[in-house]
Amino acid sequence: MKTKDIVLKELERNRASYISGQELAEKLKISRTAIWKAINNLKEEGFQIESQTKLGYKLMESDDKLSDQGIRKGLREELKDIDLIVFDEIDSTNTEAKRRLYSSDVKDFTVIVSDMQKGGRGRTGKTFASPKGSGVYFSIILHPRDFFDFSYFDLITVKAAVSVAQGIKEATGKQAEIKWVNDLFIDGKKICGILSELDADFESRSVKSVIVGIGVNVNEPKDDSFKDLKNIAGYIGTDVIRNEILSAILNAFYENNYNKSDKEIIEYYKRHSLVIGKDLTFELNGKKYSAVGHDINEKGNLIVDTGEEKITLSSGEVSVKGNFYK
Ligand code: BTN
Repeated sequence: MKTKDIVLKELERNRASYISGQELAEKLKISRTAIWKAINNLKEEGFQIESQTKLGYKLMESDDKLSDQGIRKGLREELKDIDLIVFDEIDSTNTEAKRRLYSSDVKDFTVIVSDMQKGGRGRTGKTFASPKGSGVYFSIILHPRDFFDFSYFDLITVKAAVSVAQGIKEATGKQAEIKWVNDLFIDGKKICGILSELDADFESRSVKSVIVGIGVNVNEPKDDSFKDLKNIAGYIGTDVIRNEILSAILNAFYENNYNKSDKEIIEYYKRHSLVIGKDLTFELNGKKYSAVGHDINEKGNLIVDTGEEKITLSSGEVSVKGNFYK
């Protein structure tokens, strides 16, 4: 680990209180000059660190830069040793996840995070606006523990959506609603999108790895990247720092993936659904339908009622429209 990373870990541990240069030097067994250099490096990278002659150094409570140390601090015990790769900018964390899968051994539950994406990807080939400093854009790489086939896929996205809602609630107290299958809304605006991708073996119909890509808009972007999206894209709007929001989402995702039954997950999903009981329109096999959202089944499929029949929709084949935006 680089000196600046060790120093940051210590500052993060003492976030919002001062720690003297002398204490840091003794604790980390490095010279005070090395500490001073590391602090300067960290400040140059954008960390808000206050220096006071008699008191030492303090990582400001409001510092909102994403960091390995800051994210890891909030992770549950089972996730303390995951591989976590934090970028200031990247094309797309999902694309980076794929590059890594093809080029090296990647551990289960590796997380790739970026402060901004130059080529954020959404579903159906759309772009996903990922402005600097205001959201968390990340991908989780999973290697299935047991064999699973493609039917697992719908539910992993549902689990991700539930985890984002629970993580946001845990960290900020705000309750997001879920628009089937995997968009999250707060106050009538989309604040999160999820793009899950597979590394699969078609012959055996088995999945080797899953990449769950999640983009959460945390605060209003400083630039005008939401200008053309202002009726659609929203943000959580919170003082809670992004590191904390991300650790809470990862903790929830672990819980939902490994400890919760599918039934419990679907129950939560339904409780916070934005489509059940709502008027919806969709297109299926070239035919246009109007219907009311009726239920979500145990596979995460949406059951709609057209008045004449009930139709079960799978997320891969259809997307529903409705009056979700305020
Ligand atoms: C959608 O709303 O259509 C899905 C958006 C998914 C965006 C996330 S951000 C992190 C990951 N990297 C990407 O390029 N896309 C996903």
